[in-house]
Amino acid sequence: MIDEKQRGYRQNTILAHAGLDPENNHGVVNPPVYHASTITFPTLEEFETRDKPPYDGPQYGRSGTPTQFAFERAVTALHGGHRSVAFPSGLAAIACAVNTFVKNGDHVLVADTVYGPTRSRVSGTILARAGVEVEFYDALIGDGIKDLVRDNTTVVYLESPGSLTFEVQDVPAITGVLKGTGVVTMIDNTWASGYFFKPLAHGIDVVIEAATKYTVGHSDAMLGTVTLGTEAHYQAVKGMANSFGYHAAPDDCYLGQRGLRTIGVRLERHQQNALEVATWLQDRDEVVRVMYPALPDDPGHEIWKRDFTGASGLFSVELVDAPKAAVAAMLDGYDLFGIGASWGGYESLAIPGYPGKLRTARPWTGTGPVVRYHIGLEDPADLIDNLAAGFERYNAAR
Ligand SMILES: Cc1ncc(COP(=O)(O)O)c(C=O)c1O
Repeated sequence: MIDEKQRGYRQNTILAHAGLDPENNHGVVNPPVYHASTITFPTLEEFETRDKPPYDGPQYGRSGTPTQFAFERAVTALHGGHRSVAFPSGLAAIACAVNTFVKNGDHVLVADTVYGPTRSRVSGTILARAGVEVEFYDALIGDGIKDLVRDNTTVVYLESPGSLTFEVQDVPAITGVLKGTGVVTMIDNTWASGYFFKPLAHGIDVVIEAATKYTVGHSDAMLGTVTLGTEAHYQAVKGMANSFGYHAAPDDCYLGQRGLRTIGVRLERHQQNALEVATWLQDRDEVVRVMYPALPDDPGHEIWKRDFTGASGLFSVELVDAPKAAVAAMLDGYDLFGIGASWGGYESLAIPGYPGKLRTARPWTGTGPVVRYHIGLEDPADLIDNLAAGFERYNAAR
């Protein structure tokens, strides 16, 4: 539960203190890392009632250590939520959250622009095998979502901005028309994190984040989180996490909580650097468009400005058409942009994206190659020099 003493403080203050409990840890500022499988109980009665709601203490290492609970309290405080559950990865958090609220015969609406594995693995494999019908909807549908809701629709899943192409969803319009229908709304909030967007305050029921990204922030641990606004939703997700046997490792929870201390300053710098680089990219002849909601001419800018308090360091560009070899020449020669999955660490990255393969509700109309950039904490002038040299390689190979 959110620490009462944190209510009312602003978020950077919360981030500096959330989840800490030095009074009960010998005065040590940071929560200790508890490695645990067995947890013993003083009486038979306490042992026999251990694995039951309200799940608010250590029962068995698998279902949570004090290190995990401290991390969960900190995430909850950032979101102004009720309680959170930590997972071994972002994808584990997505799979568990969705599975908690669906059953055979249900209909689920999933945004067309979700993270690839949410589409292919969770929707295409797990839900399909469970006999759940998945319908992908246009991320820009807004309150038109109500026309897609059926009697058996149980979940509407959002991700804003969308993966690869960064369309901003009108979250309040969607949650507004679904209010009172019993449909559970859930969102992948990884791009903004709780620092730049608070979905619970915009009517979302279930907030999912790949804490692997900005929460951990240093490319060295895998974690996911699910934050809920009510005890009933918490019980449901935690119960399902226990049924699947999900376990968030104590060292990784420690790193996640440590990451939260600096997520504010890091994200502000990611934003500053990304804006500078994105603005430079917009003026390049090789660039058809930059997909980044913080840019004033981005189609999602107005909604982003209304609902978000900032933008992180991840965006994509569509380039003028060229063979794949030109993209490879550009990416292979970068000094400062690594080629690799994930993002949200301190370092810059660049990978190709293929939205044409991942969209059905609103087919992708771009014709040139798409490259997704993560803008890290390096000096943006050095990043721009690297990008300029990359365009020379791109042009030479076209
Ligand atoms: C938007 C988004 N959500 C979820 C995930 C999955 O997180 P993880 O890699 O921790 O499983 C990713 C990973 O790239 C992502 O980009």
